[in-house]
Amino acid sequence: MKILITGGAGYIGSVMCEVLLNEGHEITVVDKLLYGPNSLNHLFYNQKFNFIKSDVRDFQNYQREIKKSDCIIPLAALVGAPICDQNIEESFITNEISVINLFKKLSNDQIVIMPTTNSGYGSGKKNQIFDENSKLNPISRYALQKEIIEKKLMRRKSSISLRLATVFGSSPRMRLDLLVNDFTHKAYKDKSIILFEKEYRRNFIHIRDVARCFSHCLDNFDMMKKNIYNLGLSDSNLTKLELCKKIKKYIPDFVILSKNIKKDLDKRNYIVSNKKIELTGFKTQFSIDDGIIELLKLYKSFKYYENGNI
Ligand SMILES: NC(=O)c1ccc[n+]([C@@H]2O[C@H](COP(=O)([O-])OP(=O)(O)OC[C@H]3O[C@@H](n4cnc5c(N)ncnc54)[C@H](O)[C@@H]3O)[C@@H](O)[C@H]2O)c1
Repeated sequence: MKILITGGAGYIGSVMCEVLLNEGHEITVVDKLLYGPNSLNHLFYNQKFNFIKSDVRDFQNYQREIKKSDCIIPLAALVGAPICDQNIEESFITNEISVINLFKKLSNDQIVIMPTTNSGYGSGKKNQIFDENSKLNPISRYALQKEIIEKKLMRRKSSISLRLATVFGSSPRMRLDLLVNDFTHKAYKDKSIILFEKEYRRNFIHIRDVARCFSHCLDNFDMMKKNIYNLGLSDSNLTKLELCKKIKKYIPDFVILSKNIKKDLDKRNYIVSNKKIELTGFKTQFSIDDGIIELLKLYKSFKYYENGNI
């Protein structure tokens, strides 16, 4: 397939492009390279890979690519609650308006597979399990933008929404503001952490399983289309404290303290069911432990001092 990926130079995109190219697809990325120019260098050798440096809002720069694509994967966004609150207008235009305008340019048959977020579930009651039919309760501006887009997406004939859990794992454009990546980094570098909201429970998914799932959606599109799917590890609805204890297995002198010094802007505290995507035949390949081992290998080799995009 000819696939257009906006924001393809980012954390998820730079891994996804590699996975989809390996499946034989032709990929064009449109990205304004907010986080530097190197994350896609390893793909330029491939004749099926093309890159256009542009803001997604400047449609005239990639009008032709929109027309000829069989599938569009819109990843370009200001990602996460903090950056959206710091850039209110820009996040609104990038995350919402430009995606709506993109949909308007597509024919009904052009496929859109889009990552949304399970942060929209907000805070659940004790032992409450959220599935795709649960009512959303987005709290942050970011989660709200994703909910609005998902509603528009579901009005299209040829679309799938993947409500991603918090992603972890290594990528050419590394993000340290994601929970597993961040906690593992703190364990390695500081040997200590102060947890806030330590009993808050979240769901997680490895970055390569995310990329593999987009490929799974393409392979099974007729069966899966016009649907929303949670995408996370079913055995990993973990509290922050449980996650830290897992990391401590690999860094025994990791000191875990807790104090409510901050609050999560999305108030994410939920158990998520991933049964629906599993029933389509999708199986994850990477566990949280695999991710922690991978991240420790990465952090031992390179030094990361800054948080990804906070
Ligand atoms: N990483 C996660 O845990 C997670 C979870 C749920 C959903 N998502 C969604 O997945 C998508 C990708 O997230 P990510 O983690 O790779 O984030 P990222 O910040 O690493 O990537 C975003 C990319 O979009 C590009 N971009 C931003 N604004 C642009 C603009 N106006 N024009 C062109 N390019 C622009 C950036 O340069 C960057 O390469 C986002 O839509 C995000 O909301 C991510």
